[in-house]
Amino acid sequence: MKEKILVTGGTGYIGSHTVVELQNNGYEVIIIDNLSNSSADVVDNIEKVSGIRPAFEKLDCLDYEGLDAVFTKYKGIKAIIHFAASKAVGESVQKPLLYYRNNLVSLINLLELMPKHEIGGIVFSSSCTVYGQPDELPVTENAPIKTAESPYGNTKQINEEIIHDTVASGSPIAAILLRYFNPIGAHPSTLLGELPNGVPQNLIPYLTQTAIGIREKLSVFGDDYDTPDGSCIRDFINVVDLAKAHVVAINRILNKKQKEKVEVFNIGTGCGLSVLELINAFEKATGVKLNYQIVARRSGDIEKVWANPEFANNELGWKAETSIEETLRSAWNWQLKLRERGIQ
Ligand SMILES: NC(=O)c1ccc[n+]([C@@H]2O[C@H](COP(=O)([O-])OP(=O)(O)OC[C@H]3O[C@@H](n4cnc5c(N)ncnc54)[C@H](O)[C@@H]3O)[C@@H](O)[C@H]2O)c1
Repeated sequence: MKEKILVTGGTGYIGSHTVVELQNNGYEVIIIDNLSNSSADVVDNIEKVSGIRPAFEKLDCLDYEGLDAVFTKYKGIKAIIHFAASKAVGESVQKPLLYYRNNLVSLINLLELMPKHEIGGIVFSSSCTVYGQPDELPVTENAPIKTAESPYGNTKQINEEIIHDTVASGSPIAAILLRYFNPIGAHPSTLLGELPNGVPQNLIPYLTQTAIGIREKLSVFGDDYDTPDGSCIRDFINVVDLAKAHVVAINRILNKKQKEKVEVFNIGTGCGLSVLELINAFEKATGVKLNYQIVARRSGDIEKVWANPEFANNELGWKAETSIEETLRSAWNWQLKLRERGIQ
């Protein structure tokens, strides 16, 4: 019998790619999503990619009784991957309480209900934002956690602490915290990808929307940072590679391979790429010229951050595989497909 994995936020960007990888690896998936930042037809597209329709429950993770009922309905869930969260850094500054409520209470509800339903494992979506501007690069999992730059970043730090404290209190839960660097790209099928509501907050959707003519110009925030070309440096990780890390983490929990009850892994490529280098790589990979301008720095931006992924490489046996060119082409193909479908 297939083992059941519950995926919160499973119709979202990273969640949808992860559901497909779980299905490809023989897991039965149940998705919970309130569709606040995604749409139900993602379930159809997941089915088109994997050939298997995941169970889908439109539900808010803030709804404790609703979660309880879903856990009862799908008896035998072995582990949870918890993606559901509000994630826009700027919005979190405007609406901190929305972010604290959504991102903290959702996790608390899951952790409270897991023992009752004998769900022994959780994989949590954390972020390299917990490092702030690291003192040393590439950054390892042991780097100090810096004061958060935004309420969003703070929710990730507090979520990590909540998981540590809950497990330390004796709750029968094993956890893997995956600190993502900058996920980009789309599924090679062009059926899944990032579909932001309104003006994109992330670089790549803004970039591809500019390339296709929806936006006039891409703004590069600052070219006077202490980096070789003056623009910020990030570690861009392909979304399918990232999705695969979740499958490895789930296997590890279910096969009881963990060395600690709570483990933390950087999920990045190990390569820092500047924003200007990324633009250049996009133009080369797609042959499309980008209209961009250098503007003033944006407050809250970290100058440079990239991962030391060795712990994940050696301990999980996971490694980012896809080239930046292929990843950028996938993002562009997704944008072209959205136009074809009349969406954007
Ligand atoms: N995309 C990134 O750059 C990035 C980087 C680091 C960490 N993360 C984290 O990864 C996770 C997934 O990110 P994503 O980019 O796929 O975002 P996303 O917005 O595409 O997906 C999140 C999904 O969760 C759903 N959701 C939100 N609150 C919910 C709630 N209370 N109940 C049920 N569903 C809810 C949304 O409708 C959405 O489908 C988030 O926790 C995010 O903070 C993302």
